[in-house]
Amino acid sequence: MENKKTYYITTPIYYPSGKLHIGHAYTTVAADALARYKRAMGYDVYFLTGTDEHGQKIERVAKQAGVSPKEYVDGVVETIVGLWKLLNISNDGFVRTTDEYHVACVQKVFKRLYDQGDIYKASYKGHYCTPCESFWLERQLAEGECCPDCGRKTEVVEEESYFFRLSKYAPALIAHIRAHPEFIQPVSRANEMLNNFLLPGLEDLCVSRTTFKWGIPVTFDDKHVVYVWIDALSNYISKLGYLTADHEAFDRYWPADVHLVGKEIVRFHTIVWPILLMALGLELPKQVFGHGWLVLEGGKMSKSKGNVVDPVELVGRYGVDAIRYFLLREMPFGADGVFTNEALIARINTDLANDFGNLLSRTVTMIQKYRGSKVPERGALLAEDEALEAQAAALPAEVDSLMNALKLPDALQEIWKLVGACNKYIDVTRPWLLAKDEGESSRLDSVLYNLAECLRFICVLLQAFLPQTAAEALDRLGVSEGRLREIPELKYGQFESGACVTAREALFPRIDMQKELAELKALKGDAEPAEAAKQPESAPEETRALIDYEDFAKLDLRLARVIACEPVPKSKHLLNLTLEVGNETRTVLSGIKAYYTPDELVGRTVVLVANLKPRKLCGIESNGMILCASDEGDVHLSALTTMADMESGLKVR
Ligand code: MSP
Repeated sequence: MENKKTYYITTPIYYPSGKLHIGHAYTTVAADALARYKRAMGYDVYFLTGTDEHGQKIERVAKQAGVSPKEYVDGVVETIVGLWKLLNISNDGFVRTTDEYHVACVQKVFKRLYDQGDIYKASYKGHYCTPCESFWLERQLAEGECCPDCGRKTEVVEEESYFFRLSKYAPALIAHIRAHPEFIQPVSRANEMLNNFLLPGLEDLCVSRTTFKWGIPVTFDDKHVVYVWIDALSNYISKLGYLTADHEAFDRYWPADVHLVGKEIVRFHTIVWPILLMALGLELPKQVFGHGWLVLEGGKMSKSKGNVVDPVELVGRYGVDAIRYFLLREMPFGADGVFTNEALIARINTDLANDFGNLLSRTVTMIQKYRGSKVPERGALLAEDEALEAQAAALPAEVDSLMNALKLPDALQEIWKLVGACNKYIDVTRPWLLAKDEGESSRLDSVLYNLAECLRFICVLLQAFLPQTAAEALDRLGVSEGRLREIPELKYGQFESGACVTAREALFPRIDMQKELAELKALKGDAEPAEAAKQPESAPEETRALIDYEDFAKLDLRLARVIACEPVPKSKHLLNLTLEVGNETRTVLSGIKAYYTPDELVGRTVVLVANLKPRKLCGIESNGMILCASDEGDVHLSALTTMADMESGLKVR
């Protein structure tokens, strides 16, 4: 323990002014994935989250609710702790700014800065945004009177206050930011801080208030309470025991490795906080990472707009790991991401149910069926095995470098590339045919072994992102607890043959998108009932052109496997597919270049209209057509395939 490298990661401490929404959950889930990952890599991790309970805003909502501020926050904090439990958050500490150690720490910090002359008393006249708890100068206001961050009206405040000499430390901070490009990430936010705030010149900051009571009293002047941001930022050191007799955690974990925050509070974390630390003679955090917002199609998610999405409802409906996956995969690195029900369901259906879920169930089912549930020994290796092995073996290092750069969606994408490669490997090696041939027994052993081993790699790496799913999948694969589940121990070929696999129900059942969307609409009370979604939007029966079965039977629909694929030169739309249809090979051109790369199609089984008259396109003869589903205007398009592995050439009827 003593010699382990430490990793200290924090989330913002959230305002308990009301229930948290899916945007807040994003930051905490992302920090959790990083904390879990670093623990798995052998670091001594401290992961801190908590609540920011003082300030005028909380005082006002409590008053409206007719209870004391403390009673009010106690109730909300309970729901927040419950939410983190529901989302499987593995925080080591939870700080409340009403906790005694925190109050004492903030009071000592304030006194120390006053004693050393960095805090002084003066009279203040300015503008205050209560929802953001921010002071603004006249020249910074939007439209003369509004907060430049949230656009709401500010209030004029005029009171005797204490001020913190930000200006004194500005040159040192500018030098630090320039010397440490990793300090503010993504780097665009560092430029924003320099150009918008630091280089034009910092004003001293008003750090006390007298017009309300709900805050930490200044010990030497109890008319004043400490400005809520000075109070809040100090949580990162108060929880570790800074300025107390029990400061072992502070000595061990400070400076923080990452403060993960939303982009709107980067300013407090990269200007006020580092200057406060400099004034205290403490080291600065190694990194402040300002991520983008999760927004709704109609714009920003906000309590005042009443358009927030409740994470508890989402987890109840889709399960904790589906929500964790969506948040971690869908939010682009550093930029805003959009939440829609369609995007969430599409992620669940495509990535989790189809790609990952199917791979696991196909593998387990084949080992059960062909090898009595025991993972076989690896036999002879062919080129396709070696390529798959190389891809799996390279994955842990790739994921590691992406996690160190906080590129969580990219790390998941890399893991999913191996999922995709395994699915393709099944299509290409066709274990169901190997199983029919006695002479191919050792080949089948290799294929099944490689699939189990790749899945072990995938699941071990997924433990940080989807802890519940990864543990369940490793159980089903029969991977024993301990070394074989540890990331630093991932070496290809260590899967214990003889391990016993267990088949269970699908981890992520597919969701019927149309039905689900209609149900969600109905739940919101603004739509026709779910049944309506099942009715096709089409002409009444008598005017639709119905066909006889004989007409349908004229179509020769067949399963075909894509064995090669390349773009048609000079065509914007066409791909040239070489299809295996039973014993026959065919060339078919298809206008799906905008939707698939050739790589994504090779190995897939598609549905072919096999008796279409040949047609020449771009000088190439196309012999048939593959079926795809698409929406109005072909915005989304998906090639049809089968739920189970079936041999090519089979009739579709
Ligand atoms: N109490 C302050 C933070 C003090 S930290 C010393 C605060 N609290 S908050 O409750 O408003 O939480 C803001 C944080 O929640 C954001 O910085 C971000 O981490 C997270 N998010 C809130 N809404 C979000 C989205 N819509 N999308 C992504 N993250 C969001 O500010």
